[in-house]
Amino acid sequence: MMMRVVWVLLALIGLLFGAILVAFLIKLPRVEGPLTQAQATPAVLAAFGDDRAITSAADWSARRAPLLRAAFAANVYGALPVPAPVVITDKHDIDFAGLAGLGRLEEWTLETQAGDKPVRLHLALVLPNGKGPFPVIVMETFCGNSAAFKGAVGIAATEAQTPGDCNNARMRPVIQSIFGAHIFNPPFAEVLRRGYAVAMFHPGEVVADAAGAGLADLVEISGLERDAPTRPGAIAAWAWAYSRVIDALSGDARLDPARQAVWGHSRNGKAALLAASVDPNIDLVLALQSGTGGATLSRSRGGETVAQMTKAFPHWFSPAFAAYGEREQDLPVDQHQLLALIAPRPVLLSAARRDGWSDPKGALRAAQGAEPVYALFGARGLQQKSLEDPDFGANMTLYIRPGLHGVTREDWANTLDFLDVHFALEAQPAAQPDQQATGATLTQQISR
Ligand code: GCU
Repeated sequence: MMMRVVWVLLALIGLLFGAILVAFLIKLPRVEGPLTQAQATPAVLAAFGDDRAITSAADWSARRAPLLRAAFAANVYGALPVPAPVVITDKHDIDFAGLAGLGRLEEWTLETQAGDKPVRLHLALVLPNGKGPFPVIVMETFCGNSAAFKGAVGIAATEAQTPGDCNNARMRPVIQSIFGAHIFNPPFAEVLRRGYAVAMFHPGEVVADAAGAGLADLVEISGLERDAPTRPGAIAAWAWAYSRVIDALSGDARLDPARQAVWGHSRNGKAALLAASVDPNIDLVLALQSGTGGATLSRSRGGETVAQMTKAFPHWFSPAFAAYGEREQDLPVDQHQLLALIAPRPVLLSAARRDGWSDPKGALRAAQGAEPVYALFGARGLQQKSLEDPDFGANMTLYIRPGLHGVTREDWANTLDFLDVHFALEAQPAAQPDQQATGATLTQQISR
């Protein structure tokens, strides 16, 4: 009898929760229709400060790219910690039934130094059966490895990031119903079947994702006061972490050093884009719903503003960026220039119909604004005119799917399709003459 009452109560709570979710969904406006955002400024190849207009890929790489990287460090993210050697202090196998017999799971411990702060990272490496070398997707996740590999005995638990308590069995389905079936982890079996390795870690092991603890970590890393204008933000430290993981993986003969992708959703997408803008060892970027401070223009009038974001998350960016809240027009750079720093490498951006907060139209304008740099490298950058016509063969594209902010099956289907196109292209022998002018071939040339 008691059990029945409990079940009825649970069912009622479920219904209530569903009704709230539906009401919430209906209230959120749909993202659709023509591009209403203004074009990205300044034009990416135009004169920039004292630097005259750019007319060649060589000048872009030698002159403009270093200037832009410095401008992003000074005005937006703060400087990334200096790269430091990474020592792998432990590697062991872990049993995990969720791989459906298609691969194996290893856990590595990495030790390194972010500025003045010692860092220990736990990396979960999933490898397909066979010899490789496999292309690898390096992922920072919201919930860390113990949530991603639920039931794997002995996997290191990291403090859960948002949303909520990812390791709590009752909360998991609630979190998934809001943020998508794949908010914790990718569809491992499908990823392995398609031949990809996955390396996952929790960025909170570098800088906590909380204002108090995160700012304390950043002060320790940088030696700067928390309010110093150039104090780096967590996004910069998380970007640095992608590169250190890539350093650690690069000695492993089972992985292909010419096919290393970074994946990040939302705040982790912001970090993935920044990482690729400074690290040529990153061959491809998958940045989902990265929004303001990521793929979207800071000057865009849609979605989250710089002021809203830096107020809610004072540890993500440098205080210099927060000072541009309400006066984004004065920023010397905008995010199309960050995307351009990744050219000509392939970048996949994503959006969702009910996620106006991450400003898909502003992201499309930014991707359009980066296109001239792709063209300069002889690569096909973003060609689409609207959110409705993604082009997975281009080296930059943005797709929109139904639903909310989160990671769904459709996101992974698109991610794997994009990877298949671009990593397969890059795997072709460079000797083929008709490949010489493609972005894919150029990607290998600049990144090695
Ligand atoms: C908040 C924040 C966004 C961020 C997102 C996320 O919504 O305002 O800027 O991208 O969290 O990381 O999920």
